[in-house]
Amino acid sequence: MEKIIVTEEKLHELFEAAMQASKLSYSPYSKFPVGAAILTCDGRVFTGCNIENRSFGLTNCAERTAMFNAVTEGATRISAVAIATPKSDYPVGPCGACRQVLTEFGDGDVPVVFGPKIENLVRTTLAELYPYDSLHELAD
Ligand code: THU
Repeated sequence: MEKIIVTEEKLHELFEAAMQASKLSYSPYSKFPVGAAILTCDGRVFTGCNIENRSFGLTNCAERTAMFNAVTEGATRISAVAIATPKSDYPVGPCGACRQVLTEFGDGDVPVVFGPKIENLVRTTLAELYPYDSLHELAD
């Protein structure tokens, strides 16, 4: 499926969806809510929040929650990603595990925005976040 060409306005809408998702964050340990919203190539938007656990290593980040929601609903190609970290005072980028997972489902030119608020967003791409990506032929 072809990627959707995403306008700045659409990225801002996606960021607002990520902000909304962060309100559902289950983060009693870090008290650091995160929300993510993913526009898939079929035009749907899937959201996710971080979900922590008293066994700390079992925490699932917002980005992977959103991505796994998308795959569970049959959407496996992504067009844009937004990540909201409303309690940070600077834009917090996705962790290494999430970068690996997002690149499973999106090309390098997929736009990604992240930040604490709409006035303080970093706009980048999957390729910038995850250079030297490889081994996609294993899925063929
Ligand atoms: N977290 C995310 O959900 N996504 C990120 O990009 C960075 C970190 C979560 C994990 C944990 O629940 C909390 O933020 C603090 O690390």
